[in-house]
Amino acid sequence: MVQEKVRVLWNKKVSSSCYKIGLECGRKYLEAKPGQFIMLRLPEQPVPFLRRPFSIHRLIKKDDRIEGIELLYKVVGASTEKLSGYKVGDYVDIVGPLGTGFSVPDNYRRIFIIGGGIGIAPLLFLALALDEKGVDLSSSTLFLGGRTKDDILCKDDFARLKLRVQIITNDGSSGEKGLVTDLLEKGIKEKKPDIICACGPFAMLRSVARIAETYSVPCRISIETIMACGIGACLGCAIESKNKSGKYLHVCMDGPVFDANMLKIS
Ligand SMILES: Cc1cc2nc3c(=O)[nH]c(=O)nc-3n(C[C@H](O)[C@H](O)[C@H](O)COP(=O)(O)OP(=O)(O)OC[C@H]3O[C@@H](n4cnc5c(N)ncnc54)[C@H](O)[C@@H]3O)c2cc1C
Ligand code: FES
Repeated sequence: MVQEKVRVLWNKKVSSSCYKIGLECGRKYLEAKPGQFIMLRLPEQPVPFLRRPFSIHRLIKKDDRIEGIELLYKVVGASTEKLSGYKVGDYVDIVGPLGTGFSVPDNYRRIFIIGGGIGIAPLLFLALALDEKGVDLSSSTLFLGGRTKDDILCKDDFARLKLRVQIITNDGSSGEKGLVTDLLEKGIKEKKPDIICACGPFAMLRSVARIAETYSVPCRISIETIMACGIGACLGCAIESKNKSGKYLHVCMDGPVFDANMLKIS
């Protein structure tokens, strides 16, 4: 984990409320795993201001050299609103890479990736890392869900990796009408995957975990909680585990990616 001030390489609007920002950062990120995140602070925010967590969307590489990382973020409040105004050459302060990543055993070939809204952010990095490892993604599927078509992000990036992409929105404005978990259950009934990897709103993850348990499919979920420190110091990101002792886990240190079986969320 390193703290550094990093230069903005680009900051592009990709939908009505989402942006992709490229940050020039050091070699440490060569070791970053899909699912890991950074804590970001804007220089204009005073030091007591809490950093904000963002998943690594992808590594920016050139000829096997790391040039930086890209984040995909949604404007929801003060920090993200300010961040959307940052220009090429501005600096932000980041700490990372933090947390655990998705672990997909090497022999798994049929992978179901489930993204809900901005929860798609860490999943592109996952698909890119699997592709780089030589996994043939043509047997895998991305299930992409959102409230409206505006929440459907990155579908072309995944399609380029040869994954089958299935889209669903609550209002039917893109793809089928319904919930992404409807598509997941239909897909499992057709043919069980080796593993499910998901990120999105908590209610979606709870449903995904229930479905995975019902059909006995290994499942990894990336959880988003409010995080004050991101490094295990404030204990504010506790989540109950299934452990008999009722032990709490911490999303920033033990997660954000968990084996769904470990958590008392369903
Ligand atoms: C591990 C992790 C990875 C994340 N990755 C991304 C990402 O890649 N892209 C992205 O856009 N967002 C991501 N988030 C959420 C992001 O951290 C929040 O959207 C951001 O902190 C909001 O800051 P703000 O000051 O703009 O809004 P605030 O003014 O702080 O909050 C605005 C609204 O968003 C809610 N909110 C704030 N933080 C969170 C949170 N962590 N989870 C759910 N709701 C929250 C608040 O309750 C409030 O309703 C991630 C969160 C975690 C924990
Ligand atoms: S955010 Fe402080 S302990 Fe997890």
